[in-house]
Amino acid sequence: MLLFRKRIKGLEDFSALGVDFHNHVIPGIDDGSHSLEESLKMLKLWVELGFKKVIASPHVITALYPNTKDIILGQMHHLQEVIRENNLPIVFEATAEYHLDFEFRERLEKGELIPFGKSNYILVELPFQQPAFPIEEILFAIQTAGYNPILAHPERYLYLDANFKRFYDLKDRGLLFQLNMNSLTGIYGIPVKKIAQKLIKNNLIDFACSDAHHCNHLHELKNLYRNSHFNSLMNSGLLRNRELL
Ligand SMILES: [Fe+2]
Repeated sequence: MLLFRKRIKGLEDFSALGVDFHNHVIPGIDDGSHSLEESLKMLKLWVELGFKKVIASPHVITALYPNTKDIILGQMHHLQEVIRENNLPIVFEATAEYHLDFEFRERLEKGELIPFGKSNYILVELPFQQPAFPIEEILFAIQTAGYNPILAHPERYLYLDANFKRFYDLKDRGLLFQLNMNSLTGIYGIPVKKIAQKLIKNNLIDFACSDAHHCNHLHELKNLYRNSHFNSLMNSGLLRNRELL
């Protein structure tokens, strides 16, 4: 079944995906959107691209962006109001992208996390250098607390690719994988692009999102048109974004 061929207003149609849950559209609380005006432009682009729902995932990194549940949900309500005032046909919610640092354990234990979807998903990211802690141990703690962890952009952790079997080990432990679609256009470099292709070939990707920090990241998605790896992912039947609609 061909899901990804129709073009809309010069951009691609991502309606087959429906939901983008990894992005930094909430203004002023991380390295994403800088203003409400920019956030609105981004939201209009998602609508044009065919998305039905956007779930914002601001960074939670203790040393850089110590965002709390209250801050994120407060900003979410504000943006929901702006979306209503502007009559934008998009559902808007929020979660977070949790950096697995030492303080994450504390947030987990205090019930400070914002899960999303019926399956109690939590979006997590790893350090870009080999972490000092055992990943498996923290995954187990997340699962024991009743959450379903999704790893943001597995293709960006070069140390995991150094031993490709590690991806399988993590999946066997129940970790789900979310690809950054723009990894396939090469914006994060050639090694990341190659790992993304390899993960797709090995049927390891469960979700695809934009990780959009600004409008250009959304414009960049149009370069996926005729990208064979992306089309094979879209047609694989493995993507689960729509369960979040
Ligand atoms: Fe992100």
